Amino acid sequence: MAEAPERNLAMDIVRITEAAALASARWLGRGKKEEGDGAAVQAMRNSFTSIHIDGTVIVGEGEKDKAPMLYSGEKVGMGDGPKLDVAVDPVEGTNLLAYGRPNAISVVGIAPAKAMFNLKYSYYMQKLVVGAAARGVVDLDAPVDVNLARVAKALDKKVEDLVVFVLDKPRHAKLIEEIRAAGARIQLATDGDVAGALMAADPRSDVDIMMGTGGTPEGIITACALKGMNGEIQARLDPQSYPEKERILDAGYDLREIMTTDRLVHSDDCFFAATGISGGDFLHGVRYTSRHAITHSLVLRGKTGTIRYVESFHDLERLNQLSLVKY
Ligand code: FBP
Repeated sequence: MAEAPERNLAMDIVRITEAAALASARWLGRGKKEEGDGAAVQAMRNSFTSIHIDGTVIVGEGEKDKAPMLYSGEKVGMGDGPKLDVAVDPVEGTNLLAYGRPNAISVVGIAPAKAMFNLKYSYYMQKLVVGAAARGVVDLDAPVDVNLARVAKALDKKVEDLVVFVLDKPRHAKLIEEIRAAGARIQLATDGDVAGALMAADPRSDVDIMMGTGGTPEGIITACALKGMNGEIQARLDPQSYPEKERILDAGYDLREIMTTDRLVHSDDCFFAATGISGGDFLHGVRYTSRHAITHSLVLRGKTGTIRYVESFHDLERLNQLSLVKY
């Protein structure tokens, strides 16, 4: 039986994504992917040590032998609070950060223990994400033009008014052709489908729907966020190599199954936080004044559907005293 987190952990987790964003933002555009990510991982890991939770990383930086910190299975938190599943991506869009492109974000999702689907054999999944207004109208099995027509109807728009977020990958050539043939517009990004999904779910953004194949860990994190935004993800395991396919089939998964938001995270009692690292369409990146580092975050609570935007002013002098990273 899943144990529910009773406290509102929203402000706890937003401090974690803020710390990771602050630590990695100094690497913006410097072409050093590993360093930017490493700084965020270290800061995120440190921040977890002061939070009153008994967390287990379900979606992390990889298996223990490859990832020294925030690996899947690692215990995080002080161990004296609610038992939780934890999904982290200290830098979602490591290339976006390294090459100074928009929408690199730091994200954390938490849910009661055993609520997150533990898809450790899968790297890629096909995803379709919509916001609250188009919830329940799409079907991953339906042709692209049919889904676009349904979303357009639900949003009271024409198909040609829609914007579809798609990762700019060779595997999406046919999808892009189909979207164009249907008449919809496209926002292409080299990376960052969690940001793409958040934009699809946010009625204020330019994006109406996200389609295409991206990371499985990112899919679980997205499901956490959508709980708070009342949006919907439909996903299907979509292995991109023979060994990945073999592992999934050996583990007994069905490649035809359409996974719903609830299947990926089967509790509404979850929280999600994202802090902008590089400036983007829906979150500002980390900005500096002579005195402050300013972060911009989004924090969601699944149980109540409360969405908070948090702008924090971090005193640079004190940050420098507290931290290994110089601001
Ligand atoms: P990283 O931050 O791990 O680099 O992931 C970025 C990302 O673009 C995700 O947003 C997306 O889900 C995944 O990579 C897609 O993977 P790939 O680049 O291998 O197609």
